[in-house]
Amino acid sequence: MPLPSPGRPRLRLALAAAGLVLILAGCVPTGTTRESANPQDAQTVQENLAVAANNLRSYAILDDEFAPEIRAHLFGIPGLRSLSSVTEARVLAAIESNGSFGGRAAYSPVLTDPAARRPAERFIVAPQVQDPRTTGAPTSGASDAGTAGKFPTEAEESEPGERLEIGNEVLAAGGDFLVSRLWVRGPGDDRPQASVLVTQISTDTTVDIGDLFDAEVDAAAIAVDAFGHVTLEGSQVPEKSLTALGRTVSKSLRTPLALPAAADERRPDYSCSLLPCVALTYDDGPGDPEGEDSLLDAAAEAGVRLTYFLLGRNVAAYPGTVERMVDQGHEIANHTHSHPQLDRSSPATVRAQVRQADDAIEAAGAGRPELLRPPFGALDSAAAGVLGHPAILWDVDTEDWRHKNPGKVVASVARDARPGSIVLMHSIHPSTIEASPQVFRTVAEKGLYAVTTSELFAGVELSAGAQYYCRGYGSELCSNPEHPAVLRN
Ligand code: NI
Repeated sequence: MPLPSPGRPRLRLALAAAGLVLILAGCVPTGTTRESANPQDAQTVQENLAVAANNLRSYAILDDEFAPEIRAHLFGIPGLRSLSSVTEARVLAAIESNGSFGGRAAYSPVLTDPAARRPAERFIVAPQVQDPRTTGAPTSGASDAGTAGKFPTEAEESEPGERLEIGNEVLAAGGDFLVSRLWVRGPGDDRPQASVLVTQISTDTTVDIGDLFDAEVDAAAIAVDAFGHVTLEGSQVPEKSLTALGRTVSKSLRTPLALPAAADERRPDYSCSLLPCVALTYDDGPGDPEGEDSLLDAAAEAGVRLTYFLLGRNVAAYPGTVERMVDQGHEIANHTHSHPQLDRSSPATVRAQVRQADDAIEAAGAGRPELLRPPFGALDSAAAGVLGHPAILWDVDTEDWRHKNPGKVVASVARDARPGSIVLMHSIHPSTIEASPQVFRTVAEKGLYAVTTSELFAGVELSAGAQYYCRGYGSELCSNPEHPAVLRN
């Protein structure tokens, strides 16, 4: 049974009905009907949680520069985009509504030491353990029925304070479904606010169960016991009280978890609105195939994707290299056909240069490029008017073409790359190729996620002829060289 998307009202009613039944079920006195407690089910439940733990990735967004401080620990699972996008939208809304923009125009992603990312086990809620021989309260794994499976261990670790604390965690997983909880505790709140999300894996759809309960039922009270049965306030919800959809989800929790098979694990689970990202860009290629192959190997090894601003004439000379760039998921963009200075070229020449490179890139199998970088970063209004693509500049200039020193390339990235940066390098210099493995490590050690330029700007609309130096705060762009985030090299 497919889960409806949250925007489809008719199907939403069915889920609302499921929610209502859960409320009623919670009122059923404990000890009435209890599903059999099959030891095999308990094993499957544990195995599913272990599979989820092995596949999730940990993210930390910790910002103590502005008040209130942000402490967010989130997990994501490659291939479950719907779960991360619903989660991300709520996290950004919580940051905004709690005033964590700190007087800034918008939230800007913060650098967080990768060591702060929590281990996978901490995103898994241990199932509530109940003794099948009794019909009373849980006997172990929780001290009393009132708190069993009830609230985020994380949130209980600290007193209410001046921080904004956010976390998500896996409640249960099995078959085609993953059930997670997202909680937010604002400054001064005694208890966090929670929502429970159900993700259908095969269709990558995520719906909110928390919204379907009325105020009397806290999403925090929903749990899953050790045998894969849904509980409410510590009491098992009888299967027969669930709707067809509820039964489908519930049954699946006792079958082996089937996570998505194919997903590009190099893509972070959250966007650059939330995470600190950087775009590593390489110009003027394809160069000598041996050098380009080394760079591609290093990128594959590091699990990063790059943006190549290619010259049309070089694309025609090395189509095999372009093919490999495309196969490995890198972004291919236009750097004109033969590298003229566009602010000194006639509009007719600019048009021809852009079109020739677009054609060559398309002929090499890389599709029609979206983005363009003007040679030397030089653009005047006449050339901009006929460019037909957004002009992507940079805020970090490694000056690799000038010093040809791998150590200086690495040092420049280590010193200057910040969340939202676009780093300028050239794949035609052996010294730059030599620096690349260390550049990739440096970026990762800084806590930056290396993404393609289009991913860096995901969610913001770029205009043809406009210039972009970096991604600024939130959806703001550094679209002129005087932007405070643009370095003046
Ligand atoms: Ni160039």
